[in-house]
Amino acid sequence: MRHPKPLAEIVSTGRYVPSNIVTNDDLARRMDTSDEWISSRTGIRARRIAPDCEGAADMGAAAARIALERAHVDPGEVDILILSTATPDRWLPSTACDVQALLGCANAVAFDIMAACSGFLYGLSMAEGYIAAGRGEVALVVSTEKMSAIVDWEDRSTCVLFGDGAGAAVVKPSNGSGRGILSSHMRSDGNLAQLLWRPAGGVGVPLTPEVLARHDHLVRMEGREVFKNAVRSMSEATHMALHDAGLTAVDVDLMVPHQANLRIIEATAKYAGIPMEKVFINLDRYGNMSSASIPVALDEARQRGLIGPGDNVLSAAFGAGLTWGAMAWRF
Ligand code: COA
Repeated sequence: MRHPKPLAEIVSTGRYVPSNIVTNDDLARRMDTSDEWISSRTGIRARRIAPDCEGAADMGAAAARIALERAHVDPGEVDILILSTATPDRWLPSTACDVQALLGCANAVAFDIMAACSGFLYGLSMAEGYIAAGRGEVALVVSTEKMSAIVDWEDRSTCVLFGDGAGAAVVKPSNGSGRGILSSHMRSDGNLAQLLWRPAGGVGVPLTPEVLARHDHLVRMEGREVFKNAVRSMSEATHMALHDAGLTAVDVDLMVPHQANLRIIEATAKYAGIPMEKVFINLDRYGNMSSASIPVALDEARQRGLIGPGDNVLSAAFGAGLTWGAMAWRF
């Protein structure tokens, strides 16, 4: 919804990606695929894969430490730690509590949210609401995903798309200079859950030898349907976020979309009227890191100097649920 004045702003970002780079050619040595097939359909050329010993909490804490340091925020000052992940290290307790312990955010309320690839925007939206309600001054939003642990490495149409990584942002009340979150438009539709899901492994369909043999505990996706829904939803959310922010396409200095597929991004940008020169792309190097994609891209764009003071930035995301959303910020 539209804010007459921004209530909260991103004051810093941080990112962490595992060092192990797996290229399309590396995958082609392991399965029946090719660099040509993957890159022409998705734009992805490589992804990072975390080792067994590195979990979602480790990666999230690494990204969050950088964001906190850049914001000159002591971990003890964090009031709320919102962590989005589709790959928690375990079911109980939350990965947010693990990250809280790793960082020493002793005074924070910490919890996980599950909104798949839209998780970072959902988390930011919640952080904004928490700050706007006056419940705290410092929010830490962390998105961390070890997608390599939940994809089916025998399903070439899905496993080649994803990668591992984490991103984080520190959010504080806006200081009145006009910087901050201008609009936030989040949506979901549970009727389409089966387009992108893990059918088993929770309490509804517990793990059994049969479930494991069928790989029902791993990611299943109807790629073409997901593609169509992603373009439609991200386009609609982008339109609403711009409208609610009182911006038009020409006002956007940089678009930092969820990095799932270059063709989805191109179609969304085209619909919004934003030229691709103004769209930040890093999926060629990382693949789809689910909810970590946007904060990692945002952090890279900021570090490269592509986002300056007063710039309007637009993000849009889409993921399992289905979930989707878009946000506009002024930095
Ligand atoms: N390497 C080589 N061939 C592959 C392959 C791979 N990794 N994966 C699938 N194929 C084959 C299929 O078996 C199929 O072969 P067939 O025609 O002989 O049956 C062929 O390629 C075409 O498959 P199809 O699914 O029609 O391709 P597509 O053009 O729809 O592209 C996706 C597939 C997955 C790249 C595309 O649908 C997509 O990107 N969807 C969105 C997925 C996404 O981003 N999800 C996350 C959202 S957050």
